[in-house]
Amino acid sequence: MPEISSDGPGPLGPLQLPDGRQLVLRVMPMPADANGNGDIFGGWIMAQVDLAGAVLPARIAKGRIATVAVNQFVFKQPVSIGDLLSFYAKVERVGRTSVTVNVEVYAERNPANLYVVKVTEANLTYVAIDREGKPRPIPAAAA
Ligand SMILES: CC(C)(COP(=O)(O)OP(=O)(O)OC[C@H]1O[C@@H](n2cnc3c(N)ncnc32)[C@H](O)[C@@H]1OP(=O)(O)O)[C@@H](O)C(=O)NCCC(=O)NCCS
Repeated sequence: MPEISSDGPGPLGPLQLPDGRQLVLRVMPMPADANGNGDIFGGWIMAQVDLAGAVLPARIAKGRIATVAVNQFVFKQPVSIGDLLSFYAKVERVGRTSVTVNVEVYAERNPANLYVVKVTEANLTYVAIDREGKPRPIPAAAA
């Protein structure tokens, strides 16, 4: 994806980037999400990535989905209280019953001299499930 910087698609960037990546979530961590040093807990970020990652698969599956796997998760930079986090997602694969997405997380920080850094990247797979919680086929139009 193109680099996001303060003079690029940064602060209130587009909902869809040229490479098909979409803005699916923006959130600012609160003090309750941080440890004593002011760094945000990895588990909090993982929960947000799971929520963000589910947005496109839920649209494609047109119904209930469940996270079946977190295939990769990299914390590239720490996240701090006051960072504005933007989650960009891209569909990597649509299978028979599953959708795999790549999620990149960017932190917008230091409003006095704004800059944006990539903090996290992950790959997650979601499965379309029926009322009994069993895998169901992805609707044909999406596959
Ligand atoms: C998701 C769930 C319904 C899948 O049931 P299952 O019987 O294991 O399903 P299958 O083995 O038929 O696999 C279903 C799809 O998931 C994919 N899949 C399964 N395990 C995977 C893994 N480790 N990594 C990537 N994809 C995986 C399969 O490739 C298949 O995709 P495809 O049909 O597109 O090829 C079941 O595992 C479940 O309920 N898990 C708990 C989900 C949950 O509660 N998540 C929240 C976190 S606790």
